[in-house]
Amino acid sequence: MSKILKIQKIEKYYGNKSSLTKAIDNISFDVEEGEFVVIMGASGSGKTTLLNCISTIDKVTSGHIYVGDEDITKLKGNDLNRFRREKLGFIFQDFNLLDTLTAYENIALALSIQNKSYKEIDKAVHEVANKLGIKNVLNKYPYQMSGGQKQRVASARAIITNPSLVLADEPTGALDSKSSKMLLESFNYLNEKLNTTILMVTHDSFAASYASRVIFIKDGKIFNEIIRGDDTRKEFFDKIIDVVTLLGGDVNDAL
Ligand SMILES: Nc1ncnc2c1ncn2[C@@H]1O[C@H](COP(=O)(O)OP(=O)(O)O)[C@@H](O)[C@H]1O
Ligand SMILES: [Mg+2]
Repeated sequence: MSKILKIQKIEKYYGNKSSLTKAIDNISFDVEEGEFVVIMGASGSGKTTLLNCISTIDKVTSGHIYVGDEDITKLKGNDLNRFRREKLGFIFQDFNLLDTLTAYENIALALSIQNKSYKEIDKAVHEVANKLGIKNVLNKYPYQMSGGQKQRVASARAIITNPSLVLADEPTGALDSKSSKMLLESFNYLNEKLNTTILMVTHDSFAASYASRVIFIKDGKIFNEIIRGDDTRKEFFDKIIDVVTLLGGDVNDAL
C-alpha cells in the first residue's frame, strides 16, 4: 500500500504573544491509500484546524504535509489551485451547494472547470448519482432537497474528479440519524468498492464507527488511536465509546 498523506510534526498557532492558542500541537500521522480514517475529538480540540491545514485553506505554523510526494505546505498560486482541484474532494457540514444550480449542475461543475466534453460530464454525473442513490434529485435545486440528499449531492461533487483524498468536516453534523446513516453507508461504499481514501472529522462516535481507523485528538495533540481490524461496526463503536469516556468527552453526543 502507498501512503497518500504524511503529516509530519505540524503545529498551528493562532493569535499573538499575549494570547496564543496552540490549535495543533505537534501532530504526526500517515494515511494509506484506501483507508477511511476518522479524526475524533471534543469541540475546540483542533479538528477543523487540522483538516483546513491539509486542505490548504489554512497554513501550518511549522511542520510538513505531503500528499503523494508533494509537500503541500510549500504550494503557492496556480500550483495550489491545481492541487485543490485535482487532488482533493471536500465535504462540509453545511453542504456548500450553490443555491442557483440544480443537483446535476452542482455535481457537473467540478468537471466543467476541467474542460471535459458535455458527453463525458453527463456520463460521469449519472454514474456517480447512481452510486450515491440520488438519481431522482438531479433536476432539483438545493431548497427542494432534504439535508441527507444535499449531503449526498455534495459527496458526489467531491468524488466526481477522482481525487486522491476526500476530506469531510462533520458531514453528518446537520443531518438527522436516518440521513446520517445513509451518508455513512455511502462513504463505506465509496471506500470499499471504489477504494476512495477518506479523512473525516467528527465528534460523533456513531459516525466514527464506520471508519477503518480512529485517531483521537485532545487539546491539539494525538491522544489515542484505534484500528477496526475484524471488529463489527458495533464492536468498534463500543471501543470508541471507551476511549471517548477516557477522553472525558460527552458520550451522549454519540446517541
Ligand atoms: N481563526 C482562528 N483564530 C483564532 N483561534 C482559532 C481560529 N480557529 C480556531 N481557533 C481556535 O483553535 C482551537 C481549535 O479550534 P477548531 O480547530 O475549530 O476545533 P474543532 O474543530 O475541534 O472544534 C480552538 O481553541 C479555537 O478557538
Ligand atoms: Mg470543527
